[in-house]
Amino acid sequence: MPIIEAIKSRNSNAFMSGEDIDPDLIRKILDAAVCSPVHYMTNPWRFLVISGDGRKRLGAVMADHMARGMTDPDSTDNKKLLDKIRKKPFRAPVIIVAGAAKPIIPKAKMIENVASVTAACQNILLAASALGLSAIWRTGGMTYAEDTAGLLGFEDDTELVGFIYLGYASKDMPPKPRPTSEDFTHWLTD
Ligand SMILES: Cc1cc2nc3c(=O)[nH]c(=O)nc-3n(C[C@H](O)[C@H](O)[C@H](O)COP(=O)(O)O)c2cc1C
Repeated sequence: MPIIEAIKSRNSNAFMSGEDIDPDLIRKILDAAVCSPVHYMTNPWRFLVISGDGRKRLGAVMADHMARGMTDPDSTDNKKLLDKIRKKPFRAPVIIVAGAAKPIIPKAKMIENVASVTAACQNILLAASALGLSAIWRTGGMTYAEDTAGLLGFEDDTELVGFIYLGYASKDMPPKPRPTSEDFTHWLTD
């Protein structure tokens, strides 16, 4: 498929079956991810591939984060809510957590590492779509909490950029109307 068509027809789809994804397919997707542009060749891409019972670990991190913001996490309602949160990672057979490593040389900027990993996330979405997988990029408050990256095993000072849920579609998504760029663009010509 021509690249412009691939970009325009990509759609996030959260409706996924429980069917496993071959790890070789995930490797193919991640090899596409690390083709994103990068300044100073800092290789900032860090990925954690979560599947199977690994999703319990992620669910626990998500629930613990939420519980910390509750005055009474042991109330019946809050316990129910926390149980629901714990199950959230089970919405997909595979979740790729994408993080940006801190710069390795003084002149490199964290924002540029994050930019490169952000572009890698788009590569993941496009590669998944090309390989017949559904995908959706998620974050949520705990993504940016100070301890989340460490709890998931990333090195110190890694900034998490996204949790990309991947699976086979259980329901097709109709194409979305897309904006045209004209509303967001100024042309400086003289
Ligand atoms: C950084 C980032 C974080 C996002 N976090 C969430 C999220 O937590 N939950 C969610 O439903 N969508 C989230 N989205 C939006 C979806 O990934 C998706 O882009 C949106 O539903 C629009 O669908 P589309 O990708 O088909 O245009 C996020 C998108 C980005 C770029």
